[in-house]
Amino acid sequence: MHEATATIVCGDSCAMECIASGEAALIVTSPPYYPNSVARILGGSRTRQVNVAGIWSKIDAFAQSLRPVFREMARVVGDRGLCCIETKDLEFGGFRLPLAALHARLAADCGLLVRFDVPFRTAGAKPSHFPAFLKDPRVGNFRVLVASRILVCSTQRWRSSPGVPLSLDRRARLELISPLWRVAAARSGRLHAHQTPPEVVRRLIQLFTNVGDLVVDPFAGSGQVLAIARSMGRNAIGYECDPATHARALDALMKYRVRMATMGVRGGR
Ligand SMILES: C[S@@+](CC[C@H](N)C(=O)[O-])C[C@H]1O[C@@H](n2cnc3c(N)ncnc32)[C@H](O)[C@@H]1O
Repeated sequence: MHEATATIVCGDSCAMECIASGEAALIVTSPPYYPNSVARILGGSRTRQVNVAGIWSKIDAFAQSLRPVFREMARVVGDRGLCCIETKDLEFGGFRLPLAALHARLAADCGLLVRFDVPFRTAGAKPSHFPAFLKDPRVGNFRVLVASRILVCSTQRWRSSPGVPLSLDRRARLELISPLWRVAAARSGRLHAHQTPPEVVRRLIQLFTNVGDLVVDPFAGSGQVLAIARSMGRNAIGYECDPATHARALDALMKYRVRMATMGVRGGR
């Protein structure tokens, strides 16, 4: 088994200096969607959600502030790697805020074009999260779930490197090419409030990389992408700018390494 390593740097991913241009085979990441001031308003009472234009301009300005990181993402994947960005439209006062399209535009401005997107829903995302229509089915109460999606991007000059054939039975292939991935949610007691479902991360790494490739997460959060990549024999580098979050992720990566060592599996540093 390839001896894989996982590293998480405490710092801003607008300069991923330890990664050479074109070195990353795959980025799997979930950028922050909005600042804390907006999180409070989105999570507050719907009757107070009236200034749609105002909230959208804050979300737009926040997304634009991530532009230097998106440029770095384009640099490290070069013309051989793929970049998978988790995103989602938002809801405010009964209106849809098109964050997924905003992220796609931002990526395109930085040279990463969307090849396709993969919507997914987790087992936990049940209609029971929206009980108003179940109790009282009337026009004003009707809403459907907003699915999260992965934007799979590359440069326009992208050429895939020769991959090894994937060992997938017909059922697995059908699930992977289905228009909506259904996966389990991140388990409770998770490490980060916005943790990507681990099954989604696993599938992307399996589909788009080979053993020994480099997987990068510029918004590493819990470090989950790095841990999963390493467990699959891929090297991984992540960046996390918040020191407390970085310390928790580092701790989780160390525990994971000890667990693997106890089980007789080598890899990690
Ligand atoms: C949505 S969370 C990522 C969660 C992650 N996908 C997981 O599964 O745990 C985004 C993370 O990016 C970090 N972050 C935001 N801007 C950053 C930057 N410029 N450089 C590095 N980390 C950043 C935040 O502190 C936050 O922990």
